[in-house]
Amino acid sequence: MISFNLSNPTSIAFGKGAIASLSELVPARTRVMLVYGGGSIKRNGVYEQVMRALAACSVIEFGGIEVNPHYETIQKAAALAKVEKAELILAVGGGSVVDAAKFLASVAAVEETDPWDAFLKGEYPASPLPVGVVLTLPATGSESNPVSVITSVTRHLKLPFSYEKARPRFAILDSDTMASLDRRQLSNGVVDAFTHVLEQYATVKDNTPIQQGFSETLLKVLLAWGPVLLEDNSDEARENVLWAANQALNGLIGAGVRQDWSTHMIGHAITELHGLDHARTLSLVMASVFRSRIAAKQDMLAQCAREVWDFGAGSDEEAARFAIDRIEAFFMAMGAPVSLADIAPTEIAVDAIVDHIARAGQLPLGEGRDIGAEEVRAILNAIPATPPMQAA
Ligand code: NZQ
Ligand code: ZN
Repeated sequence: MISFNLSNPTSIAFGKGAIASLSELVPARTRVMLVYGGGSIKRNGVYEQVMRALAACSVIEFGGIEVNPHYETIQKAAALAKVEKAELILAVGGGSVVDAAKFLASVAAVEETDPWDAFLKGEYPASPLPVGVVLTLPATGSESNPVSVITSVTRHLKLPFSYEKARPRFAILDSDTMASLDRRQLSNGVVDAFTHVLEQYATVKDNTPIQQGFSETLLKVLLAWGPVLLEDNSDEARENVLWAANQALNGLIGAGVRQDWSTHMIGHAITELHGLDHARTLSLVMASVFRSRIAAKQDMLAQCAREVWDFGAGSDEEAARFAIDRIEAFFMAMGAPVSLADIAPTEIAVDAIVDHIARAGQLPLGEGRDIGAEEVRAILNAIPATPPMQAA
């Protein structure tokens, strides 16, 4: 096991009606900056619940955070937070709003109005503003992790930033907020969480049986409940996916584990260039990454086939290939793209994607740091033109 420090101080309030607990989590008279996205919270009753619970606070609103949030918008929000002397940033929304709020908390705590390069070097403020979250879309795990994935429009880059002090103080997870999510967002959430588990699990077989076993449970839960969520968006399905998505990327299953975020880094570049939803880039790329790295990942993929899918007799290589086919079939069952024919337009700019990853300073990728520019190019060129014929 790799040595690790693990501390996840985010206090989680999980359950129906939990938004009301904001009145206890946020002291009276706090100057709260409420950050939200394109307006879903004003249509589904979440905004009213938040405002009711914050009745004793003064609330400054900042709406209009984009999907795949823009740094340039966050700079505007930070300017307002400074003028208004905000004391707490409250994110109400999905991963984009949460990521923006966490980044904003640091941008608002420095004098510099353009700290992108400083943050890239790890020069964050010692005391970013505290952040709280009311999550409305389970997917990213952002509500209790230190990461913000931010797009700079002027730099043509979509990058992950990680700062431990950016972890939210609290996160409210009320499955009722998921009632207004459409099928595509529900699918995106399940697929994103599923890939988060796999990028921490499908690497090399180390002495990490606890992390592996928990990861296998998360995969099984998402496999079982993801399709039910799409089918009926039931209470049970919402609760299980909400909790699984949180656990998939809160640091626990990744502690002490060698990780491979290739699918995500390639996916971020595809989103920046083509505007494809985050989760849909992942389903497009993941099987190709795994097939290209099957030799290195064979042990864990074979274990996945046996533990998660009860693969019967067969070699490790057959089991590993079976697991990749099952992963692909799951994406298809969730309505997520696995081939170029599934996206529009039906092509991707391979050279520009490789260039994005290179400019982001992310090469080489992979748990063995052996996925360079040429390997990324080969992975992208191996994405099939049409979906494979297979049953879910
Ligand atoms: O903007 P609003 O109007 O709120 O609408 C959003 C948006 O259009 C809507 N939505 C959210 N909750 C809703 C709802 N619509 C109806 N009812 C609700 N309850 O859903 C749309 C997508 O929202 P978004 O926040 O973009 O989705 P998601 O949670 O999938 O977040 C994606 C972002 O997170 C980043 C991605 O790269 C992407 O930028 N990630 C962040 C990570 C992290 N911080 O650890 C890790 C991930 O791998 C990922 O990279
Ligand atoms: Zn993701």
